[in-house]
Amino acid sequence: MNSLRYLGHSCFLLHLAGKNILVDPFIRPNPKASGIIDVEALEADFILLTHGHNDHVADAHEISRKNGAPIISNYEVATWFEEKDCQAYGMNHGGRRDFGFGEVRMVNAIHSSNMPDGSYGGNPAGYLIHSGEHVIYFAGDTALTMDMKLIPAYYHRPTLAVLPVGGYFTMDYEDAAIASDMIECNKIVGCHFNTFPPITINCNEAIKYFESKGKELILPEINQIINL
Ligand code: NI
Ligand code: MN
Repeated sequence: MNSLRYLGHSCFLLHLAGKNILVDPFIRPNPKASGIIDVEALEADFILLTHGHNDHVADAHEISRKNGAPIISNYEVATWFEEKDCQAYGMNHGGRRDFGFGEVRMVNAIHSSNMPDGSYGGNPAGYLIHSGEHVIYFAGDTALTMDMKLIPAYYHRPTLAVLPVGGYFTMDYEDAAIASDMIECNKIVGCHFNTFPPITINCNEAIKYFESKGKELILPEINQIINL
């Protein structure tokens, strides 16, 4: 069964075509997740990183080394992990590659990126993953941007989209509703909310706001599994 498990903040474990793809692991330093998710027990075949900020890469090295899981990211993030003895694929924006579980396409995100040690982290990204009937969009940390209008032009419209909704560092849920129009996807999973004070939202208000637009917003609990 293909599924998406929420591991807190922007971290998800995507189970797709028999592979486990871990996205933006930030578990040990996240007090909301660390007591619930056992990093040692996580099984990953690939690790997908949207940018170099610590709230997206904190556990990537440990999990990559332990599982022999290659890191997929932009060239700069991938090179940083390669120098630390991880296997990595350094892609860049506009590029795509078939990793066996599906095709991964790196798309634009409007944000910033540096590594936990302050070194340059390249440009932040989102990803489109195409596998069978699924087109899954991970927007990464991003502002609302006209580039999102390109998303449904690839493959077909996304079947599920993971968008940041917490505001302050990224778009908020009102902007995410506009984004859902631009990407032509009405099934949205929210992330990047309620981890730190500046990104605290009222979940009921956010869900009702989406409902008022005829859309579905899922704000998962940590460890919640969403079937695809
Ligand atoms: Ni960030
Ligand atoms: Mn972030």
